[in-house]
Amino acid sequence: MFPPVTFRLEIVAECASTNEELLERRGPEFHGAVLLALRQSAGRGRRGRSWWSSDGNLTLSAGFRLAASAAVAPLLPFTAGLALHETLGSYLPSGADLRLKWPNDVYLGGRKLGGMLSQARQQGDGLDLVLGIGVNLKTAPPPESARVPAVSLAEFAPAPTPERITRELLRVWERLLVGLRDFPSLKERWEAAALLPGSEFRVVGEEGTYRALGILPTGELEARDEAGGQRVFASEEVSLALSET
Ligand code: BTN
Repeated sequence: MFPPVTFRLEIVAECASTNEELLERRGPEFHGAVLLALRQSAGRGRRGRSWWSSDGNLTLSAGFRLAASAAVAPLLPFTAGLALHETLGSYLPSGADLRLKWPNDVYLGGRKLGGMLSQARQQGDGLDLVLGIGVNLKTAPPPESARVPAVSLAEFAPAPTPERITRELLRVWERLLVGLRDFPSLKERWEAAALLPGSEFRVVGEEGTYRALGILPTGELEARDEAGGQRVFASEEVSLALSET
């Protein structure tokens, strides 16, 4: 079962990577520790990429201590995604196209607003998992630093400070973590925020399109190919591209 979380926020002026910094920590304080850096100089992205950020953007990481066999590990990003969707959405005009993209991204108006990076380390008889969140609140990366078209919240609404949005995010996230006990209803909300069931996507590096069916209890994505065959994607296995059609 997932240990209840009460987040403890620590704010630092600068660090290389909040994920790396938190992964270095040990001990009982790890579960629920949150590190917010007002400036991050060597942020890490998924698949070994770097994460561009600048002052006024959100760069934070949260630590979770889990049982070694924790099936809950791949489910945590769904709670963080929903918390981001709710919190960021409260700043945006109604009708703004804010949506989650499986497995770990947040898009606004078809461009990438933020992403998450989950890293884990075996620790004694358990697993220390760090979930890092980066959001372009004030400034989007310049095109040469962005793999996909990027956007900032400030292009749509006055952007809150990282401190303010973090406090709001953590309140929402704590509540959603309690909801992990009922993953089927949590995942239904996530699917709605991602407009997922029925949507078409391509897999980068592969021909053809897939139609999403939904998220499985394991956190994997279930889809059908054009011939009607079933395919299951694990979160770090593929990069999905929303289909143009
Ligand atoms: C992605 O590639 O989309 C994931 C980006 C995750 C970036 C965040 S910023 C805070 C935390 N610290 C890091 O070094 N990376 C994550």
